[in-house]
Amino acid sequence: MRTPKDMAWLRKTASFFPSRIILTANNYRLFDMLEGRSRTAGALAKAASADARGMELLLNGLVAIGLLEKKERKYRNAPVASRYLVKGRPDYQGDILRHYDTLWDNWSRLDLAVKSGCPQRKSGDHESFILGMHNLALQKVKKVIGSLDLKGVKTVLDLGGGPGTYAMGFARKKIAATLFDLPETLKISKRLIEGSGLADRVRLLAGDFTKDDLGGPYDMIFISQILHSFGARQCVSLLRKCRVSLRKGGSVVIQEFHLDDTKAGPVQGALFAVNMLVNTPEGRTYTPAEMTSWLKKTGFEDRETKIIDETVLISGRKK
Ligand SMILES: C[S@@+](CC[C@H](N)C(=O)[O-])C[C@H]1O[C@@H](n2cnc3c(N)ncnc32)[C@H](O)[C@@H]1O
Repeated sequence: MRTPKDMAWLRKTASFFPSRIILTANNYRLFDMLEGRSRTAGALAKAASADARGMELLLNGLVAIGLLEKKERKYRNAPVASRYLVKGRPDYQGDILRHYDTLWDNWSRLDLAVKSGCPQRKSGDHESFILGMHNLALQKVKKVIGSLDLKGVKTVLDLGGGPGTYAMGFARKKIAATLFDLPETLKISKRLIEGSGLADRVRLLAGDFTKDDLGGPYDMIFISQILHSFGARQCVSLLRKCRVSLRKGGSVVIQEFHLDDTKAGPVQGALFAVNMLVNTPEGRTYTPAEMTSWLKKTGFEDRETKIIDETVLISGRKK
């Protein structure tokens, strides 16, 4: 009997097996070990100090989901693994997978988060979080910065700029960028910025944006993937603070996952809201209408919304 199409969809969507298999393979760095060479399960078990049966079954699972190829008794990376899961590749996504792995425990308490409305944040790894943000931002930085109106912009504050991917993107356009973030984050960003040879063009400013002065006045403040971690009241007070640090006529640009007015799509925006339920006391994703209303309330005019893939950019100018 053939499985009905909707049943097949349900099984695939409800299964956590593939996610867990990918995360474990990434933790063992199997894709690095298999890059450019075919190896047996026994050889990989030895190299990874793992159990031979455990490794063989994991490898077969990876073949089944399409990340590895198997010929006779040897395994090698499928093209998708070579492109995205081998460290050092331009499109590398292994750090964000390590971050997802640390979220796994928190998400296992989703039932409790729904019942209590309280975050269930028991695990976290700051380094993989920040490097993971870099993996994601590198995929879209050119498109995002290319879509902004940078006429007359000489100074930009990248607020909560994390790895500094956007600050570096602005610096490459000969704009003086300031990366404001927590001291523990800046230790990681500093390495990335120095590695890119842009250290003299990106200023690092350590602080807590909920408490400290943001400096300025800047021509533009870029707030990417920050507001979803906070409740509406805190978002409004952060935007108010940004206004103080902008020159007259300067602009604020918010980047977030796009969430439409139903609040149930697109998929990434709706699912990320659940991630914020699990990990923050008041965060969720917001619709362009909600964020635009905050810009209006905090004195920004010429408000504009642009949707780029599953991301939304909302901007406003200080009166
Ligand atoms: C989701 S990441 C976004 C990183 C970057 N803007 C991007 O889009 O790739 C959130 C960033 O906000 C920073 N952050 C969170 N709370 C902060 C605070 N109170 N003050 C300064 N930075 C903060 C974190 O360290 C992290 O780098």
